[in-house]
Amino acid sequence: MSVTQETPVRAPRPGAEVLAEPMRSRWSPAVFATDVPVGDDELAGMLTAAAWAPSTGNTQPWAYVVTRAGTAAYDAVIASLSNGNSGWVPTAPVVIVAAALVGEWEGRKGMGDYALYDLGQSVAHLTLQAQAVGLHTHQFAGFDHEAAAAALGIPEAYRPMVGIAVGRLGGDEHVARATEGDVARHTKDRTRRGASEVGYDGVWGTPFPG
Ligand SMILES: Cc1cc2nc3c(=O)[nH]c(=O)nc-3n(C[C@H](O)[C@H](O)[C@H](O)COP(=O)(O)O)c2cc1C
Repeated sequence: MSVTQETPVRAPRPGAEVLAEPMRSRWSPAVFATDVPVGDDELAGMLTAAAWAPSTGNTQPWAYVVTRAGTAAYDAVIASLSNGNSGWVPTAPVVIVAAALVGEWEGRKGMGDYALYDLGQSVAHLTLQAQAVGLHTHQFAGFDHEAAAAALGIPEAYRPMVGIAVGRLGGDEHVARATEGDVARHTKDRTRRGASEVGYDGVWGTPFPG
């Protein structure tokens, strides 16, 4: 069976049937359809979802720099990637750098550590909006944050936290061009600790039933 035929069983996973869409279908591929562009309307929808996330005191301490393959900005992000990410990230036609407001910028401030919390929640909304319109995302921390910030003109008040590869799921022809390591990353088993392991019932240590 080909990788592509197998991929639908990667999401949802057994035990995840209770999840509503698009959480149920979301997963992070390492092989994207490089040659299929992402529309500006789709990207605008993702940024709108990110903007409508809740945040501490409605401070909205986030910013996103969208880069498209074939531009100097995209190439600069690719050049900043860690070794482990340098094979698969460039298969995505769009890479977004997400940054949190940790200082003061144009009269706005985040709320200390909550700026990082708020950015994560905003990114979650962005990724789920992407999934809902048939796109996939894969976040990555493995890049030179300072180099990327300098190349993209991100001010010091904003801390780059994560890159987000965006595109459509790669087909067999894309998988065939990927390295063995990236195919392994693409097809690795997805596991989670269960609800009764992460949730306690009333008091710490008493597993939530189910
Ligand atoms: C903040 C953050 C940083 C991550 N960094 C990397 C990374 O540098 N390279 C990578 O391949 N995946 C990275 N990931 C992806 C995770 O490994 C992935 O989300 C996790 O294994 C769960 O898989 P799933 O998204 O398919 O459910 C990162 C995810 C997050 C949220």
